[in-house]
Amino acid sequence: MVLFQRCALKNLILPSPYCRGWGVLPASKSYITEFAFFLLLGHRCTGYSTISGIPGVRERTLIAVKPDGVQRRLVGQIMQRFEQKGFKLVGMKMLQASEELLSQHYQELRRKPFYPSLLYYMTSGPIVVMVWEGHNVVRTSRIIVGDTNPSEAQAGTVRGDFSIHISRNVVHASDSVEGAQREIQLWFHRKELMDWDCYNHNSTYEL
Ligand code: TYD
Repeated sequence: MVLFQRCALKNLILPSPYCRGWGVLPASKSYITEFAFFLLLGHRCTGYSTISGIPGVRERTLIAVKPDGVQRRLVGQIMQRFEQKGFKLVGMKMLQASEELLSQHYQELRRKPFYPSLLYYMTSGPIVVMVWEGHNVVRTSRIIVGDTNPSEAQAGTVRGDFSIHISRNVVHASDSVEGAQREIQLWFHRKELMDWDCYNHNSTYEL
């Protein structure tokens, strides 16, 4: 069935396997393409598995380049870490975060002694928030980002390579799947997130 879906989509809906968006259908759609589209929606409704059938391929996490990272022009280098790993960018924007938004984002830290200075720092300039998607992306992103304290962060991690003090650790990464879902909803509207398929999906995941 899965194989049939792939063939149907490649041969009937799309002129090539490299689609731009699932909403794009030929103007003169036939019953056959309607049927293929129905099959497509069927597999997309599963949410956390894809054509490949690998669970968690559509897991998502929130990554943010903090004000120090933006000021130091590190956005590109930080994004590169996630791109070169093979994760898929599905949302990105630059904004000046409000205290209210940050207090929700950091709700578990409100009583910590460092919370006021954290808020001051996080509102000191624009940040770049992103949503990345892929298998085990939450856990793997924490490894890519490194320990909260840059002194403890391994060389090769973002914090290990680009920062030296916990108060300016350059980047945020969600620390659990549930936390990621909460944070993504907090920072992004649904329509700001793109569902798209990589043309080289087969090079990243087993068919
Ligand atoms: P936390 O959620 O514990 O870490 P992480 O960002 O790795 O998930 O803390 C949030 C941020 O608060 C952290 O990135 C940097 C700042 N922070 C301090 O400034 N001082 C501290 O002692 C701690 C624990 C965090």
